[in-house]
Amino acid sequence: MTLALMKHDAVDILTRQHAQIRRGFYRAALPGPGRRRAFERLMRLLAVHEAAEEAHVHPVARRVLASGAALAARRRQEEKEAKKLLVALLHTGPDGKGYLRRLGEARRAVLAHAAREEREEFAALRRAVSGRRLRLLGAEVRLTQAYAPTRPHRWVNNEVANKLAAPLLGPFDRARDMLQHAVHRT
Ligand SMILES: [Fe+2]
Ligand SMILES: [Fe+2]
Repeated sequence: MTLALMKHDAVDILTRQHAQIRRGFYRAALPGPGRRRAFERLMRLLAVHEAAEEAHVHPVARRVLASGAALAARRRQEEKEAKKLLVALLHTGPDGKGYLRRLGEARRAVLAHAAREEREEFAALRRAVSGRRLRLLGAEVRLTQAYAPTRPHRWVNNEVANKLAAPLLGPFDRARDMLQHAVHRT
């Protein structure tokens, strides 16, 4: 594992992403020509963020924390519910009727979930896991995110499937995103 990859621990990376997600929801609600791009960036960020948590962080929490199994099960259930709202939002799209309402619903679910992760899971992981191990986990999070699928409808809601699906679906989604951007530009 290279030193650069192990520079930040998993809790730092994911907490920073929660702040980016919060700003992303704000930007995706702003009117104007930048809305679609802000919306697409938010969808990609949410997809890679949740994929890494499901593949690496919740499984470690389940193993090392005293009430880890119950905690991880609750987080996975919340993620599943948030995904349903995000898929509905994705289908509506930033130009669709009811976009702001659906965006608001998804925002509330995602941010409440993120706050619970920080309060119940991340804080306990910090206490229970060594700094070195958390940095290793950070490297795994980064690697997963480099390959993770970029669309919420492709999220797979369990650890094994995420680990298997990420390398397979990631490049495919990314190639399609590039194609779509090329089409939008013409
Ligand atoms: Fe999560
Ligand atoms: Fe999270």
